Amino acid sequence: MRIYECADYSAMSRQAANIISAQVILEPQCVLGLATGSTPIGTYEQLVEWYKKGDLSFAGVRSVNLDEYRGLSAEHDQSYRYFMQTHLFDHVDIRRENTNVPNGMAEDPAAECARYDQIIRDLGGIDLQLLGMGHNGHIGFNEPTDYFPLGTHLVDLTQSTIEANKRFFASEADVPRQALTMGVGSIMSAKSVLVVVSGADKAAIVRSAFCGPITPQVPASILQLHPHVTLVGDRAALTEIRKEGVAVCG
Ligand code: F6R
Repeated sequence: MRIYECADYSAMSRQAANIISAQVILEPQCVLGLATGSTPIGTYEQLVEWYKKGDLSFAGVRSVNLDEYRGLSAEHDQSYRYFMQTHLFDHVDIRRENTNVPNGMAEDPAAECARYDQIIRDLGGIDLQLLGMGHNGHIGFNEPTDYFPLGTHLVDLTQSTIEANKRFFASEADVPRQALTMGVGSIMSAKSVLVVVSGADKAAIVRSAFCGPITPQVPASILQLHPHVTLVGDRAALTEIRKEGVAVCG
C-alpha cells in the first residue's frame, strides 16, 4: 500500500484528483468506480477545474458508483445520482449513458443488484475504485457484519451511519434506512483502489482498517489484501496510523 500524507483537505483533494486524472489520461476508456460522501467533493471540484482548463477529458470514461439509498429517486437532492450529477457529471464531458448508479427506486432490489453486477461484468471490471471510509470502517455501504458480501446487495444501514449522514437531511427520520451497495468482492476486484480520508475523526478507523486485524467487523480492513491500494489522507486523518511506523510518502 502506498500512503500519501497531505497538509490539509485541499492538498488531499488535489493529490487524489492527480491520481484519477493520471488514470484517465493514460487510459481514456477506463472504468472508474466512484464514491459519494463529503470526502471526495474537493477531488471532484479539482477534476472539474482541470477539465475546464482542457487538461483532461472524460468522453471515453465509463463509471460505476458504489451505492445508492433505497427509496430515493435520481431527482432527490440527497440521492447519490443527484450528488454525482451536481458534483461531477454535469460539469464534464462524460456521457450520461456511460455513468451507472444503482437504481434506488427499483421495485425488486434483488433484480436491481443482479443487473448492477452484470453491468460491472459487462464493463470488464473496474480499473480504479475511489473510496471514502465510514467511521465504522464501512466502504460503499458494506457495514460491519460477520462476513464480506461479494456482490451488489441491499443493506440495512447501521445507527452509526444514519447518525453520520443525518447532517445531509432535514432530520434523522428522513435518512433512508436501507441502501443498495456494490459488494466487497467487486471492490476487491478493481485493478487499483484509491482511498481518501480527511479529518481527525477518521484517524482511529484508518489505523484499525490498515494496521488492525482483517475482519468483516471493519470492512475496509480487507483492503490490506489488495495489491494496489493508495491511501491519500490529510495530516489529521493519518495521525494514528503514523504511530504504527508505516512508510508515508510526502
Ligand atoms: C459513499 C460511500 C460511503 C462514504 C463514507 C464516508 O458513496 O460509499 O462509504 O464514502 O460514508 O463518507 P464521508 O466522506 O462523508 O465521511
